[in-house]
Amino acid sequence: MGELEKEILDVRERLGWALGAQLVGAQPEANVGELRALLAALEARRDWLAATADDPAPDYELLAAQVAAMSDAQAGWVAALANASALVYQTLPCLNWAGFYLARHAAGTPELVLGPFQGRVACTRIAFGSGVCGTAAATDSPQLVPWVHDFPGHIACDSASASEVVVPLHSRGTVAAVLDIDSPAKGRFSKADLDGLGLVARALEPIVADALPLH
Ligand code: SME
Repeated sequence: MGELEKEILDVRERLGWALGAQLVGAQPEANVGELRALLAALEARRDWLAATADDPAPDYELLAAQVAAMSDAQAGWVAALANASALVYQTLPCLNWAGFYLARHAAGTPELVLGPFQGRVACTRIAFGSGVCGTAAATDSPQLVPWVHDFPGHIACDSASASEVVVPLHSRGTVAAVLDIDSPAKGRFSKADLDGLGLVARALEPIVADALPLH
């Protein structure tokens, strides 16, 4: 039996004990909600690994080239980011959210505002420095988060999210937006995904250059 399967059995057993304790009115040793989230994330990881075992690694250079080719200057940046979020969501397996938050510098307080995306409804405004997206924007650095519950201040728009990558896009030397990708599987993303999504972000920078950040 593999390590992951052992971990799943272990979490299932701990959840069983915690539910049993709850049933008899005792204080469970572990938090039932946390164990349920961990079990779902581990099972999603197992299913993702099984479903993609024979797949080649994602071709991020091709994805970035497709995103650039779809970016029609006449149609503008909203169309480009909307199609980019759709393409990423359709191309990469095991995602539950893919999209953009746009930087806005109104009234001197920088924040992120929800932009084009695929997935469940999401929070509309995030302060620079808050959560994973706000940290990426405030520090201008990509974020790779294998388990979102370990990230201080993570903003849970969808409780199914288990892991996440966020990559900044730039315009005139400043953060213009972030590309945010979430997965229901624990540890879904690797350094190769982070770097590859960086290529996608770079491909979009020319099309957002004159429009973002918002003011
Ligand atoms: N998880 C993000 C918030 C955005 S939603 O995932 C779409 C964060 O902590 O920044």
